[in-house]
Amino acid sequence: MNKTNGAGIRIDSLRFSYHGHMALDDLNLKVEPGERLGIIGPTGAGKSTLLLHLNGILQGAQGSVTIGNTIVSRDTLATVRKKVGLVFQNPDDQLFNPTVEEDIAFGPLNFGINKEETAKRVKQAMQSLNLQGFEKESSHHLSYGERKRVALATVLALEPEVVAFDEPFANLDPGMVAQVVDIITNMNATVIVVSQSILPAFACCDRIAVLVAGKIVKTGTPKEIAKEKELLTTHGLDYQMYCDICKKL
Ligand SMILES: Nc1ncnc2c1ncn2[C@@H]1O[C@H](COP(=O)(O)OP(=O)(O)O)[C@@H](O)[C@H]1O
Ligand SMILES: [Mg+2]
Repeated sequence: MNKTNGAGIRIDSLRFSYHGHMALDDLNLKVEPGERLGIIGPTGAGKSTLLLHLNGILQGAQGSVTIGNTIVSRDTLATVRKKVGLVFQNPDDQLFNPTVEEDIAFGPLNFGINKEETAKRVKQAMQSLNLQGFEKESSHHLSYGERKRVALATVLALEPEVVAFDEPFANLDPGMVAQVVDIITNMNATVIVVSQSILPAFACCDRIAVLVAGKIVKTGTPKEIAKEKELLTTHGLDYQMYCDICKKL
């Protein structure tokens, strides 16, 4: 676990439906400050829906989400969005300014951080993600992996207490996956990683929650969850194939 002031998260009896279709069903979850929690689950389990509740983009019809001491509601959105940074699955949903440095500066400036401090944060975020040299580039001209890193930099520059990633390993080459595992492992915040990539999630998370049909059905250390063969296989999350391939080689 990180030594951090990252905020704890508490989700109580959360329910959310899309036009009558239940996506989160009486979901309960507690995350310690500084913990890195992986949430794994099959497609359609409700992973992205859950993330969108962490900073109030979606709000449940029932139940509550609490970040630190703040209950997420319409009245607390400004506070909550300073505390929680979401890194979307598709970087193009996060990048809309003419240049990379403007994209990264946008959030801090929007939150009232002065120009000097913002410039410092932009530089730091770019350095930590190996993005130096891309300052004046348009993100349209960058590769997918580079855009993923810029999207993460836009969140890091906000210095949030909670960083929540939606499928951070999707569509990356293996070298980039290793790099993202490394970045997540060294983050100084409470981290939520929602992913179908079981092994990278095991590699960078302290604890894993298994989400199926809108409910958390199991939580445990990566070692404990790895032993839940039947549960993983039933929900299409088994990774034995990769172990067999490695043994064969
Ligand atoms: N905008 C939407 N409108 C209607 N149904 C949706 C919408 N987004 C997601 N869903 C449905 O809600 C459920 C959970 O979706 P999602 O949170 O995207 O799952 P995951 O990220 O685990 O794949 C799925 O059944 C999905 O089809
Ligand atoms: Mg999703």
